Amino acid sequence: MKILGICGSPRVGNTEYYINVVLKELAESGFEVELVRLRDKSINQCEGCYGCIENKKCVVNDSFEEIFNKMLKADGLVIGSPVYNGSITPRLKALLDRAGFSSRWMKNDLKTDKGKYDWGQMPFSRKVFAPITVARKTGQTFAYAQLALWASVNDFIITGSNYWTIGSAGTSGSINANEDTEGISIMQHLAENMDHVIKKLKA
Ligand SMILES: Cc1cc2nc3c(=O)[nH]c(=O)nc-3n(C[C@H](O)[C@H](O)[C@H](O)COP(=O)(O)O)c2cc1C
Repeated sequence: MKILGICGSPRVGNTEYYINVVLKELAESGFEVELVRLRDKSINQCEGCYGCIENKKCVVNDSFEEIFNKMLKADGLVIGSPVYNGSITPRLKALLDRAGFSSRWMKNDLKTDKGKYDWGQMPFSRKVFAPITVARKTGQTFAYAQLALWASVNDFIITGSNYWTIGSAGTSGSINANEDTEGISIMQHLAENMDHVIKKLKA
């Protein structure tokens, strides 16, 4: 069983720290885990070309396909983003726009026999999703909602924890998630819930 972490931060910061807490717990429970750092990748925004409808894949050529294939193979995704101006980061948004839209057409067509959509199973159906967001001061819940809304329209099962899986970094771009004992325990419980749900789904 595979878990893919995706970090939307352009630096080695708090978001990556929290994602790694979750991945470490899941690795200890027997999952194969991998972290993709978007700072190492080039991902352009969706061109809105609709080429994926006909080609059954995104036709823009950059790091997208490599990451998308890992997303398809994973049983669970842990996706984390810093909050930039109240939002998830642009590269992560670009990845999610393209992954969500292009995957929809892998098993569906724009025009159906009945003239209306009948989505059925989609490539991400019943994969397990965990959102994490980190801000200096505010905006975590809005960015969290962006991630949760993406997951819920793409047929994921979203996991929570015993508190929101968000971090508050404090002043001057502090990288101090390692001092956040409450946050770490919330992330560890998130991992327990992912473990529980994925093992039930696979049973
Ligand atoms: C361009 C930019 C925009 C930011 N916007 C916000 C914001 O809207 N709200 C906030 O509380 N912090 C904001 N921050 C602070 C970051 O969210 C904070 O430093 C966070 O720890 C970054 O995550 P990271 O440590 O994983 O890189 C911003 C930082 C940058 C660089």
